[in-house]
Amino acid sequence: MIKKAVLPVAGLGTRFLPATKASPKEMLPILDKPIIQYAVEESQKVGITDFLFITGKHKRAIEDHFDKATELEERLIKTGKDELLKKINSFENLNFAYIRQKEPKGLGDAILCAKPFIFEEAFAVILSDDVIDPDYSVLKDMIDIYKDKKAPVVALEEVSNEEVSRYGIVAGEKIGEDCYLIRDMIEKPEKSKAPSNLAIIGRYILTPSIFKYLEVLEPGKGGEIQLTDALRALLKETPIYGYRIKCQRYDAGEKFGYLKTIIYFALRAPEISDDFRKFLKDQLSCI
Ligand code: G1P
Repeated sequence: MIKKAVLPVAGLGTRFLPATKASPKEMLPILDKPIIQYAVEESQKVGITDFLFITGKHKRAIEDHFDKATELEERLIKTGKDELLKKINSFENLNFAYIRQKEPKGLGDAILCAKPFIFEEAFAVILSDDVIDPDYSVLKDMIDIYKDKKAPVVALEEVSNEEVSRYGIVAGEKIGEDCYLIRDMIEKPEKSKAPSNLAIIGRYILTPSIFKYLEVLEPGKGGEIQLTDALRALLKETPIYGYRIKCQRYDAGEKFGYLKTIIYFALRAPEISDDFRKFLKDQLSCI
C-alpha cells in the first residue's frame, strides 16, 4: 500500500499576483475548497494518510487549513451547523508534516527534501496545480500498475505541439490500453525536439531509489534541479511506466486553466449547476 504523499507547494505563484502576494496560490478556491484540498482528498480516496508538504515562505495558511479549528468547531456545534462541521473535520484521520525548501531550486530539489520522511517505501507525488476530476481513479490506476510492476509510474496526457515545451515529455512504447513503458524523457523540450506529445502531468508513484539521483543532479532546464532528469537517470536502473489518464485535467496554476477548472466544477456542482448553466448561456448569447 502507498501511505505517503509528497506535495511540493513552495512555488511563489507569481502568475496570480497580486492575489498571491500574502497568501499561497494553493489556497485559491475552486468553489468552496482551496485547490490544495482537492489534491489531499484525491489521495485520501486511495488510502494515503501521511502528507508531506514541501513549503516555502508565505505558506502558513496551508498548515492552518489542515489543522484543527477548535473555536470554529465549537461555534458550529453551538449553532447546530452539522453539515459544515463535517466539511471542516474531514482531515481528522490524516497526518500532515511540513518541510521548508531552503531555496527555490526546482521540483527535483523539492522532492529531495522529502528523503527523511520516506524511508523504504514507495510514495506518491502530487502537483496540486494539476487538478483532476475526482470521479476518475487516476491514482488508483497508477498504484495498480505500481503493484503489478514494482516500478515507478508517471501520469501522462497527450498535449498539442504548441504545449510540449511546458511539460516533461516522454518517449514510450504502448504496452497496454493506457500503459506505456517509458524509454526516455526530456524536460520542457522545444517543439522540434519533443520525442512525442505525451506529457508528464502532476501525479507520480516513486520509489526511494530516486533520491540518490536527485542528490547528484546538476541543474537542468531553467537552471533548476529537475525531477524529469532524475527519472531519466533512474531509467538505467529500473523500468518506469506511464499511465495515460482518461479524464480531464486542468492546470489551475495559470489564469485560464484556473478559470476552466472553476467552470468545470461549477457545471457539476448540484447546488448551483442549473443556475450556472443558465447564466453561462445568457452571457454567451449577449456577446
Ligand atoms: C513540472 C515538471 C514537468 C511536468 C509538469 C506537470 O513542471 O517539471 O515535467 O510535466 O510539472 O504539471 P512545472 O509545471 O512545475 O514547471
